[in-house]
Amino acid sequence: MSEQPILQVSGLKKHFRLGRGSTLKAVDGLSFAVRRGETFGLVGESGCGKSTAGRTIIRLYEATEGEVLFDGENVHRLKGSKLQSFRRKMQMVFQDPYASLNPRMTVGNIIAEGIDIHGLYTGKQRRERVHELLRAVGLNEEHAGRFPHEFSGGQRQRIGIARALAIEPQFIIADEPISALDVSVQAQVVNLFKKLQREHGLTYLFIAHDLAMVRHISDRIGVMYLGKLVEVTASEALYAKPLHPYTQSLLSAIPIPDPALERTRERIILEGEIPSPLNPPSGCPFRTRCPKAMPECAAAMPELKEAGPEHYVACHLY
Ligand SMILES: Nc1ncnc2c1ncn2[C@@H]1O[C@H](COP(=O)(O)OP(=O)(O)OP(=O)(O)O)[C@@H](O)[C@H]1O
Ligand SMILES: [Mg+2]
Repeated sequence: MSEQPILQVSGLKKHFRLGRGSTLKAVDGLSFAVRRGETFGLVGESGCGKSTAGRTIIRLYEATEGEVLFDGENVHRLKGSKLQSFRRKMQMVFQDPYASLNPRMTVGNIIAEGIDIHGLYTGKQRRERVHELLRAVGLNEEHAGRFPHEFSGGQRQRIGIARALAIEPQFIIADEPISALDVSVQAQVVNLFKKLQREHGLTYLFIAHDLAMVRHISDRIGVMYLGKLVEVTASEALYAKPLHPYTQSLLSAIPIPDPALERTRERIILEGEIPSPLNPPSGCPFRTRCPKAMPECAAAMPELKEAGPEHYVACHLY
């Protein structure tokens, strides 16, 4: 018997109504679980619904259908003090370090936002907590009085992380926290996430648009395509033996550091664009670009099923 997962997402959908009767299916039936203390990487190309999924899980958006259980409680049914308590336990680090920090607030006040909302500390204690948080993310006390525009992208992301940490959450949704950063800064921020996870026993849902970015932080990975998960498994299994043709093509795009292996790498180039979530293909959403598509792929959407130990794939080949 394994422990109950900290987060259990089942059949989650988020559809946006755009007027004139059209509906954009940004998230269209996600199911996965995140275990306490692990990092679950959620990966997929731009527009596949990663941010919408994160925002629906943390209840910045109401779900269209399906459920999100956090510690066994249905997040979208929480009210009053239980909702407040959930808001303390789960925090988000946003995708864009330039747009997500209020330019008119000092860094100290930005970081203390959650502390103020939840009435945790005031005065000297509040100031000390802000300083402690700044140090924890590799910044220093003098930074508390400055404004966001005085900082680089990497530093801003550290401020966003300090803000998320301020109220001692258990779970952080990090929405592409490193995508906007220079490659040289990305590893530093990933290492900061890892250090904080060790020190605070945090659980992460770590969103990224390519597999290279989540490789060194994720215990398990879910690959998304057009609002759906196409493959979910442990990191090592995904890199060693990707099953879904979409995952295979994403992995084939990553250069291998070993020159001998790099020469043997076969690059799978996908044809065409990602279809619009306003008008997704019938059956498997990937079939219009899939090098292995078969007639049955147009007829029915393959379910996510276990093709190997704890290795789930949604593909008619398995
Ligand atoms: N508030 C909204 N109203 C209408 N459509 C939306 C809204 N938010 C997102 N969408 C649409 O939903 C789809 C998924 O968007 P989302 O931002 O979740 O993708 P993403 O995977 O996070 O992409 P990226 O990697 O570029 O951040 C896109 O087609 C987007 O245009
Ligand atoms: Mg996004």
